[in-house]
Amino acid sequence: MKVLLTGGLGYIGSHAAVALLNKGYEVVILDNLANSSMVVLERIYSITRKRPVFVKGDVRNELLLKQIFAEYSISSVIHFAGLKAIAESVSNPLAYFSNNVAGTVSLCRAMAAAKVYSLVFSSSATVYGAAKQMPLTENTPTGVPTNPYGRSKLMIEEVLKDLAGSEPMWSIALLRYFNPVGAHASGLIGEDPSGIPNNLLPYILQVAIGRLPQLTVFGNNYPTIDGTGVRDYVHVVDLINGHLAALKTIGSSGAGVNVWNLGTGKGTSVFEMISAFEKVSGKQVPYAVKERRPGDVAECWASVEKANRELSWIPEFNLEQMVLDSWNWQTRNPEGYSALGT
Ligand code: NAD
Ligand code: UFG
Repeated sequence: MKVLLTGGLGYIGSHAAVALLNKGYEVVILDNLANSSMVVLERIYSITRKRPVFVKGDVRNELLLKQIFAEYSISSVIHFAGLKAIAESVSNPLAYFSNNVAGTVSLCRAMAAAKVYSLVFSSSATVYGAAKQMPLTENTPTGVPTNPYGRSKLMIEEVLKDLAGSEPMWSIALLRYFNPVGAHASGLIGEDPSGIPNNLLPYILQVAIGRLPQLTVFGNNYPTIDGTGVRDYVHVVDLINGHLAALKTIGSSGAGVNVWNLGTGKGTSVFEMISAFEKVSGKQVPYAVKERRPGDVAECWASVEKANRELSWIPEFNLEQMVLDSWNWQTRNPEGYSALGT
């Protein structure tokens, strides 16, 4: 079975490529290298001893997509390609609507033309907005995302629902990721943020490795266990196992649109994350508490009961293992992929 991974050289897509190749799938990767490196392709080979087909190109290039579907008999697509930096989405919203929303539209048009109807989409818990009741279930109404990135994810969900409503052949999984962290156990692939990281654990890692002086904790007066923001961190390998299960469950056609949360069902505060990291690494993380970050919610954690039940998917890694694998990746690649070429 051949699977097209758009954005397959990125953080999450590269872990999908490894898992699929290890399970005997054939993999075609389409990536424009906007936020990734060719080094990843070699790393995928080092781990799996298999080479995916790689096409350098943009998901908005419908002609290229049609050529890919004509050349390779692809049965399903996992669509990771997109931009994901929240602050950049505020300063350059059109890039987000173009890459994320228009990119998904061109992908779906090419899929329909090739009669490929099985699609797994990387959505985000951001679509719930500032929901009041935790845990978030798939029945929690979607809210108002606070930035263009979040709105692009919600728009794509709506586009895909309308598409499935128009043509019963479609089988679509909307996977709402909570906070993916961790890395492959080999330490060969992991998250390599460009510039200063926005996310908590990547920031802690760069402080610990000496690239940044200290962590800023954004607020300690939230109504949470210790006043800091609570999130649902999920190991990227677990997250990808959820994709494999979704792929099997939706099959090749006719399943309509299905929504699954992918988290662990457990909330972790910023202070708990710092403690877990210090315990695992033996390093102190200097930090200063400052103002809340605009747009942040106090708590965001999932009910994963639906994915447990319908996908037989149970996340296996605990917080300590997530932090350990992230630290292993960071210490083996202190400068990310950049020291190794593009
Ligand atoms: P990433 O930036 O590491 O990977 C995205 C990949 O897509 C990169 O390799 C990039 O070069 C490629 N890409 C971007 N625009 C493209 C385009 N127009 N055409 C072809 N390739 C393109 O990000 P990631 O963390 O691996 O995220 C993957 C997906 O999951 C994204 O859609 C993201 O929005 C979503 N997601 C991520 C998180 C997270 O915290 N990492 C949370 C929720 C949802
Ligand atoms: N935090 C800090 N200091 C930092 C970074 C983060 O204190 O330097 C705090 C935040 O205030 C928050 C928690 O750590 O309380 C987690 O923040 P992240 O930026 O790691 O994660 P978010 O939940 O804010 O954002 C993530 C993804 C978004 C996605 C969102 C909702 O990065 O793409 O989840 O699912 F939209």
